[in-house]
Parts: sequence; C-alpha cells; structure tokens
Amino acid sequence: MIVTHIGLKNWRNFRTVDVALTERVFIVGPNASGKSNFLDVVKFLRDISKPGGGLQKAVEDRGGVSKIRCLAARKYPEIEISLHLSEAQNTGPMWKYEIGIKQEPRGFRLPIISYERAWKNGEKLLDRPDERDKSDPLLLTQTHLEQITANVKFREIARFFESISYMHLVPQLVRYPKAFSGPGLPDDPFGRNFLEQVAKTQERIRKPRLKKIEHVLRIAVPQLKELSFIQDNTGIPHLEAIYEHWRPLGAKQREDQFSDGTLRLLGLLWTLFDSDSLLLFEEPELSLNSGIVSRLASLIYRIQRQKKRQIMLSTHSFDLLSDKGIGGDEVLLLRPSMEGTTIEIASTKGDIVELLNSGLSIGEATLPYTSPNNVSQLELFE
Ligand SMILES: Nc1ncnc2c1ncn2[C@@H]1O[C@H](COP(=O)(O)OP(=O)(O)OP(=O)(O)O)[C@@H](O)[C@H]1O
Ligand SMILES: [Mg+2]
Repeated sequence: MIVTHIGLKNWRNFRTVDVALTERVFIVGPNASGKSNFLDVVKFLRDISKPGGGLQKAVEDRGGVSKIRCLAARKYPEIEISLHLSEAQNTGPMWKYEIGIKQEPRGFRLPIISYERAWKNGEKLLDRPDERDKSDPLLLTQTHLEQITANVKFREIARFFESISYMHLVPQLVRYPKAFSGPGLPDDPFGRNFLEQVAKTQERIRKPRLKKIEHVLRIAVPQLKELSFIQDNTGIPHLEAIYEHWRPLGAKQREDQFSDGTLRLLGLLWTLFDSDSLLLFEEPELSLNSGIVSRLASLIYRIQRQKKRQIMLSTHSFDLLSDKGIGGDEVLLLRPSMEGTTIEIASTKGDIVELLNSGLSIGEATLPYTSPNNVSQLELFE
C-alpha cells in the first residue's frame, strides 16, 4: 500500500498542503523549508498507531500542540491531516483517513481530536465525534487508530502506519553507542542499536542480506571485501570487513574503523532490505561520494521494486537528482514564504517541464527553486 495523497492544515511550517504522491517521493527545498517536517507527518501517524504510542505521547514527544501548530495559522486554528492510501500509484484511493487536532479549551489543555474519519472504497467507517464521544468528552483524547477494540473495521490503516520506518543513521552512534548515554529513542532512528538489530535478525536472513550489501560496498569502498557479522567473546555484536592492501591477506576492520560513508551506506541498504513498508530517509547522500550518490536513486528503486512499497526521501543533492530516471511527478518542491511553506509537484510547473523536455535532469531543472533567494550574499560575508 502507498500514500497517494497528503493534505495538511497548520502542520508546523505548512499552512495548507494538498499534494499527490508517487511510489518514490523526492522532497527538495532550501534549509528549514520543512522537508523533515513533511516526513514527520507520516511519522506522527506512525507514533499514534504503534503499540505504546497514542495521540497524547505523539504530541508530547513533539513538544505539545503549540509546537506543532503552524505559527502562521490564523483562520483555521486546528491541525489537520488527511491521507489517501492506495494499492498502487495509479489505482484510486482504497482508504482515506483524516484527523483534526486541537487543545482542550480549559482544564489540563490536553491534545484532543476535533474530528476523526475513515473511509474504505468510499464507504464511511468512522465519523467522530460520535454519540459516545459526546457523552464522554475524555474519549476525544485518544484516536481510534491507537485502540484495537475501536479500529476493527479499519485496522489495516493502523497496521500500515505502524509499520513505517524512518532512517537517518548517524555513524558516530553506531561506532560509539556507549558514549551516548540515556534511554535512546524508540525505533532507533539514528542507529545507536543498529548492531543489535543486525544481531537479532535470524542468521538465514542476515547472511544473504550482508552478502548483497557487501556486493554494493565493494563497489563503493574499493578496498573492502568480505563483510561479515561476528560476536566478540563478551557477546557484543560487530560487523567486520576485510580491507585489501599490500599484504596478501589484507586486514580485518570492525565497524568502529569503518568510514562514515561506509556506515551510512550500510545502514541505508540494511533498512531497504529489512522493511517491507513505507520508508522515510533523510538526506541519504550524506558522506557519500558523488559518483555513488548519482546512482542512489536507481539503486533504491531496484531494491524496492520487488516490494511494492513507497520511499519518501529528503535531499539537497544535485547528484542524487541528476538521475534522468526521476520524473517531475516524483519531486516535491518546497518553497518557504511569509504565509508558510508551499509544496508544488515539479511536473506541474511549465518552466520545469520545458527544461526536462529539453534533456536536463530534474536536478538541473529544479536547482533554481531549491537555492535560497539571496545565496549570492554569502560571498560578501566577512
Ligand atoms: N509550528 C511551527 N510553525 C512554523 N514553523 C515551524 C513550526 N515548527 C517548526 N517550524 C520551522 O520549520 C523549520 C524547520 O523545518 P525542517 O527541519 O523540516 O527543515 P528542512 O527542510 O528539513 O531543513 P534542512 O534541509 O536544514 O534539514 C524551522 O525554520 C522552524 O522554525
Ligand atoms: Mg531536514
């Protein structure tokens, strides 16, 4: 299943968004234009739906309603999210889900839903507030996504949201997990427990998966060969690779000696193979050589294509967008303004389509839209 449409009102720096999505979504725009905030919409629904999650926690983890609600919000003070879910890119929406969120007007000022609705193939299965909500307003502090007794008819949506993965691996966390104390984040988005995750994977899956990853790493990291999983004599898991050099047998290195790019690529590939559902990536180009980055989009496509799932990624990389296989309908252009950030699909802009038709890549065609307006002033900075 894939998300084929997202509508937003007053979500962080977006006042209004209404955008169609494809199987691959490339989110581009200047710094602080809201790329991560856009990915966070989907993460928010995941955080509501997952076990141990729920509306209260998802809002609290983001600092409360006032942090989520758009600072530029005026007429419509509620935060609103609507989504279409379809079997594939070109089929109509099978599911529709929408939610409005506000704060209790008095008392504890908890986040509450102002409405929650769900449809399957056009049939309305949920329409809140209902009679029960009216007789017990406390019920509005929870969505039906998070209640298995209440979502029997549309549990498929909750399961879909729950299975969403987000990856933004930080190499230092993989290398030195103990140096970063504290409980860590649920779902481990930055890879602190990456090695434990690899260790927990059954050997019959882990071994062939690492072989495939090794295959890619051997191309990206010229001296690397033989990537394997080991546990040291204290039981701590490690990844180990042989580096070829002038000695005939090469030398073994563990993850704490792997380069940033090696670890990022490893994490990216692991997640691609591991997940069967919607995947969110932040700037997958980080630390990678531009030759590799220019082939990332097609590499990701080839791995995901068997799985019929969707990938949404934020990027600043001209190289990543230089792949001529990326269509204008796959690229979301974010543009900040005084009224909040707007999102446009690149293929709906005549000048971009003209440039694409004349043979330019999507990176070349959209570059003017992704640089800040006054970037040339940086040259005058002293
Ligand atoms: N409630 C809100 N209302 C308005 N703006 C907000 C709100 N919450 C966050 N922002 C703004 O969103 C911006 C950050 O957006 P985000 O992190 O998504 O940017 P980004 O495009 O991912 O940037 P980068 O490329 O640097 O990672 C900040 O400028 C922040 O002020
Ligand atoms: Mg960001």
